[in-house]
Amino acid sequence: MLNGPNLNLLGTREPAIYGTTTLAQIEESLTACARSLGVELIAHQANSEGALIDTLHAWRGVAQGVVVNAGAYTHTSLALRDAFAATSLPFVEIHLSNIYAREPERRTSLLASAAIGVVCGLGADGYEFALRGLVSVLRARAARV
Ligand code: DQA
Repeated sequence: MLNGPNLNLLGTREPAIYGTTTLAQIEESLTACARSLGVELIAHQANSEGALIDTLHAWRGVAQGVVVNAGAYTHTSLALRDAFAATSLPFVEIHLSNIYAREPERRTSLLASAAIGVVCGLGADGYEFALRGLVSVLRARAARV
């Protein structure tokens, strides 16, 4: 699971939009979910674009897939989409809020066209839906080869 800028402040950050669940709580419940699915979860959060890209490079050959909330970089970062392409890491994009029901500048995702799928607007629970979807798609792909 990779989280981008300002998501370290979840819990107190604009709770009317993002809820009151902290990132630590999300990591804890996603770790439990991963265990129940028989997979291992690695979690990282960074506020800078370069650090997120460096993390994807480091996960190349280590992670099988990524649940990513890129925060505001979702709407701006071609470099992050390039990093997914360069590392061939399959990913599911997740947002706590429904970005399509917010300000116009949030309604475009530069990542979505390269994602397996997108979960948004379902709050912190969305991370679990994203992980379940990612694991399910990767297992189906692995069964086909
Ligand atoms: C977000 C939506 C983004 O527009 C925003 O910049 C965030 C959080 C979400 O989870 O709803 O930082 O990715």
